[in-house]
Amino acid sequence: MTDSYKIILDEKELPEAWYNVLPDLPEPLAPPLNPSTGKPVTPDDLKPIFPDSLIMQEVSQESWIEIPSEVREIYKIWRPSPLIRARRLEKALGTPARLYYKNEGVSPPGSHKPNTAVAQAYYNKKAGINNLATETGAGQWGSALSFACKLFDMHCTVYMVKISYEQKPYRRVLMHIWDGEVYPSPTDRTNAGRAILEKNPDSMGSLGIAISEAVEDAATHDDTNYALGSVLNHVLLHQTVIGLETKKQLELAEDKADIIVGCVGGGSNFGGMILPFVKDKTSGQDLDIIAIEPKSCPTLTKGLYEYDYGDTAGMTPLMLMYTLGHTFEPPGIHAGGLRYHGDAPILCNLVKNGVVSPRAYTQNPVFEAAVLFARTEGVIPAPETSHAIRGFVDEALKCKETGEEKAIVCCFSGHGHFDLAAYDDYLEGKLQDYEYPEDKIEEALKDLPKFPTGL
Ligand SMILES: Cc1ncc(COP(=O)(O)O)c(C=O)c1O
Repeated sequence: MTDSYKIILDEKELPEAWYNVLPDLPEPLAPPLNPSTGKPVTPDDLKPIFPDSLIMQEVSQESWIEIPSEVREIYKIWRPSPLIRARRLEKALGTPARLYYKNEGVSPPGSHKPNTAVAQAYYNKKAGINNLATETGAGQWGSALSFACKLFDMHCTVYMVKISYEQKPYRRVLMHIWDGEVYPSPTDRTNAGRAILEKNPDSMGSLGIAISEAVEDAATHDDTNYALGSVLNHVLLHQTVIGLETKKQLELAEDKADIIVGCVGGGSNFGGMILPFVKDKTSGQDLDIIAIEPKSCPTLTKGLYEYDYGDTAGMTPLMLMYTLGHTFEPPGIHAGGLRYHGDAPILCNLVKNGVVSPRAYTQNPVFEAAVLFARTEGVIPAPETSHAIRGFVDEALKCKETGEEKAIVCCFSGHGHFDLAAYDDYLEGKLQDYEYPEDKIEEALKDLPKFPTGL
């Protein structure tokens, strides 16, 4: 076994194809439904907002999809990303476990998000589209798409959840540097935004609301398409470079994962890490795959497995997923990118079939683990990533109790350099631990569309 800290792949080892899990899922993925007909969505339904190439990727049953050379060239700016053995954290915890983290924070915008942003900008540009509209929670996706659009000489409009727009002004500046146009959502630019503001003029927004605004923007402008930073099959597909590289890096380290942990907002970094390991687990390998989410937005741990809209206004197709109800507005925790009512149907399928185990934490224990990580490994995790770090630390502590020498791999989805206000609040003892918002979720679940599961 290697005694290195950093396990680095050469640029030549950057994956040449993305891995498509669809043919390998334990149960076929239920189709998305058109809300007006109740029938499976057709490619024509999606054409007003997505290019054909991405629509085909969304439904492809091919196991491997070649990464275009133009996209690989851009990936090379930061990929392959390092897998790091967290030896100082191991020592601080006194654990016999071997701890590894895959650092996606080394990309220019600071997270895993450009893995799909670059691919989506490329396919849209190739289809003759020059404008992309999108939503952003924490600002990571908006900055990744602004960066990607800049590289392909495209324009990017970002609807940023208002609470993050106010809490994270520097992410907005980052988007401006890459020429993104940023609006605090809900805005009065769209019918969806105006309807929310009419009901609640003080709405701090949510990912669901911002998605409605961006989809409406794309659907009502011929020259504009929509780009989603998570949830959809093609987004998770593009993110599989994370897990594919990690597999090669573990081989280089002559090790094998016993446990993989990651955080889940819509499921893209987590899916990107774990999907290439799913077949190993379903064919008998002893592997725990743990998805971490916030207790204040407990989609996988407390949601219902039902068809629901991906956005608040009910403009998107219905997807079979764990959901808290599309009208649920989660409390304003600092991990803005984890405030989403649903999750990727692929990930929900894996949770439903027992391949992935979900777990939820409140903010204070999450930041406690993140600060320990920063004080040992030096790197400051994003608040979203900090959820994964809490799971990472807890699994390492379990090994300390049992004496098991397990290999634990964590998907480090992004750095927290623009989230220092959150750390300030934590260090000053000002962070609030929101418990499970049962009443609000019960209320939102009443708004679920009336389609029987499994149609
Ligand atoms: C650093 C980071 N990690 C995780 C997430 C959650 O998104 P996903 O579940 O799609 O990876 C976000 C979303 O904004 C993010 O910025």
